[in-house]
Amino acid sequence: MTNAPHADHPTLALPPFLWGSATAAAQVEGAAHEDGKGDSIWDAFARVPGAIANGDDLEIAVDHYHRTTSDIAIMNELGLDAYRFSTSWARIAPDGRSINRAGLDFYSRLVDQLLETGILPWLTLYHWDLPQALEEHGGWTNRDTALRFVDYAETTYAALGDRVQHWTTFNEPFCSALLGYAVGVHAPGRRDEAAALAAVHHQHLAHGLATTRLRELGAQQIGITLNLTNAIPANPADPADVDAARRVDGIMNRLFLEPIVLGAYPADVVEDLAGLGLDTLVHDGDLATIAAPIDFLGVNHYHDDLVSGHPDDSGADGGHSGATEREAGSPWLGSPGISFPSRELPRTAMDWEVHPAGLRTLLVRLGREYPTLPPLYVTENGAAYDDVAAEDGRIHDVDRDAFIQDHIDQVELAIADGADVRGYFVWSLLDNFEWAYGYDKRFGIVRVDYQTQERTIKDSGLAYARRIAASREGSRPGR
Ligand code: FCB
Repeated sequence: MTNAPHADHPTLALPPFLWGSATAAAQVEGAAHEDGKGDSIWDAFARVPGAIANGDDLEIAVDHYHRTTSDIAIMNELGLDAYRFSTSWARIAPDGRSINRAGLDFYSRLVDQLLETGILPWLTLYHWDLPQALEEHGGWTNRDTALRFVDYAETTYAALGDRVQHWTTFNEPFCSALLGYAVGVHAPGRRDEAAALAAVHHQHLAHGLATTRLRELGAQQIGITLNLTNAIPANPADPADVDAARRVDGIMNRLFLEPIVLGAYPADVVEDLAGLGLDTLVHDGDLATIAAPIDFLGVNHYHDDLVSGHPDDSGADGGHSGATEREAGSPWLGSPGISFPSRELPRTAMDWEVHPAGLRTLLVRLGREYPTLPPLYVTENGAAYDDVAAEDGRIHDVDRDAFIQDHIDQVELAIADGADVRGYFVWSLLDNFEWAYGYDKRFGIVRVDYQTQERTIKDSGLAYARRIAASREGSRPGR
């Protein structure tokens, strides 16, 4: 296989603003053990009693593996420019090392079908599903996993690099490292503060090494997706709140942005995390490797975080990512008595607050605070609500519709403010497996009936399609 543009698939020209939607392999594919796929840490985690709501698993998910043709037809009905999906490492290399041709062939067919219908494939290599075989050798706490990741990136590029232009190394390393290794609510379910920091550093290293390797192989659009927040002091006049917000900003944003963009860990965060062994993790040259230039930054944003430096006895939670990162006494986010008070804002079914203006603030801030950042793409934004099918089978999901439209408005305002945002991907194309929440939380703009696998475009999806069509004509649909 060569890396030259595929004769039958000339490179798609990028529109001025890319409209897309996103999924992830573990959440939609199913076929968890078909055609040679090995266990990922999520397959294994789902077997731990109590780990996933209702004992749900990933065996069938929404059967995207067998339904790519009809799912791509839906993407076309919506008028999407791009489909953000992830490849499953355990499908491509079931034991983390040896190559499974059938796994690569699946993604090759997916990419061909997308391109045939004019949809740009936007590929993410790691959306949280490490091969379980590598976890058994320490997973992301083992520096060697970063090298295995480079091999996987190289294998995937060799199969798809002739047709896929956009390569994202990692999705939300904050979640896979912290929720997986410190808090334990995500796979692999470990609760070890130092292990989480090792996971952070080794994922950064894997990102940097893979970026360099992909560049050598000819990739021209390489990036990473981070979940970023606005950490807002509950009382800006209270030094404890201001310091707590600094700490949350440090751990959720700067710990991930700064090694990549500036080639350094933020000094205050290093101090906050003293004792977790960062000095022994970082080898000479690592930070230069991690800071390999990237071509785009993916930004995932769902809600802000209002932060207080005082413990909260009320049991309320300000919609902080499922309250999961917050563990009492943790050097990460639990100390010194950090809490996330509630603002009087509407909430989604995740109990996340709805505050669209936060997206504009974040996008504008990123460009101002990090002037060397490459173009930004909103690679995830969306909302879970408890949808109810109407008698005619339609889904009148007015809340989700408003959420998406209001956030797109804010993206437009951010661009008007000077933010270099080149695209928006709604999370998610389909209802799917929402990690520890199983199938309880529906984020799709397309409903999936989990009994029959039938798909129905929700009102939010129809409105998204109208917005895309109108933006191509330079107009705006009525609301
Ligand atoms: C993000 C994940 C994505 C999905 C949304 C709701 O953190 O990247 O897979 O679960 O949240």
